[in-house]
Amino acid sequence: MTKTALITGASRGLGLALARSLASDGWRLILTARGADALEPVADRLGAVALAGDVADPAHRDRLVRAVRDHGGLDLLVNNASGLGAVPLPPLAGYPLDTLEDLFRTNVLAPLALVQAFLPGLRERRGAVVNISSDAAVEAYEGWGGYGSTKAALEQLSNVLAVEEPRVAVWWVDPGEMHTAMLADAVGAEDAAAAPGPETVVPTLRRLIEERPASGRVSHP
Ligand SMILES: NC(=O)c1ccc[n+]([C@@H]2O[C@H](COP(=O)([O-])OP(=O)(O)OC[C@H]3O[C@@H](n4cnc5c(N)ncnc54)[C@H](OP(=O)(O)O)[C@@H]3O)[C@@H](O)[C@H]2O)c1
Repeated sequence: MTKTALITGASRGLGLALARSLASDGWRLILTARGADALEPVADRLGAVALAGDVADPAHRDRLVRAVRDHGGLDLLVNNASGLGAVPLPPLAGYPLDTLEDLFRTNVLAPLALVQAFLPGLRERRGAVVNISSDAAVEAYEGWGGYGSTKAALEQLSNVLAVEEPRVAVWWVDPGEMHTAMLADAVGAEDAAAAPGPETVVPTLRRLIEERPASGRVSHP
């Protein structure tokens, strides 16, 4: 039977790499990102449904819920979309709190809201949730305290969700450094170019989806 996945942040980077891989194996995909100009051609090529919008916007999340319902329900939710916060990465002493508040809406509340919306169907279908985290959730890198604290919150939500929802597999994944727009924004284009491409993380994600190990934290490689 055809399986359906919703991938947030699928217009480039890791989200796009995973979407390509799942599409080539016949998954039905619902893809989202804010920029329609990048998202729509990508979704067209993959035969996927594109819904452009901000995951932090409750009205956009409602549209995603309706799209999933119109396509018969969800087997896999991939919370991959994420912001970086203030750039250049500021020390916590001067971190702009309004920016941090917005970052928590995108990186923590939006993934949880999507999980809440899709849980009934995911329980029924023994579905799965992949929350993309970062080593900044658990390591103390100077300048990464804002972003890292959002990922730490996402990890602990995932951790508790895993024990509360035994019918749903929940994995929170540190993908390691990847050569993407986000890393270039954080460390500069030249340093980011030294990192492996996001497609190198896809086999780790596919192994989770195919083999369904116990819920838990996963570090790539
Ligand atoms: N790159 C790394 O080295 C690295 C390391 C550790 C963890 N990660 C994590 O890996 C995941 C993927 O990151 P990436 O490096 O692939 O980033 P990326 O290339 O910058 O892609 C981010 C994607 O998310 C979308 N997006 C961002 N904010 C959004 C929002 N509010 N609503 C909807 N879509 C949004 C972007 O499109 P729009 O801008 O058009 O919305 C884009 O499609 C993230 O969770 C990130 O924190 C990355």
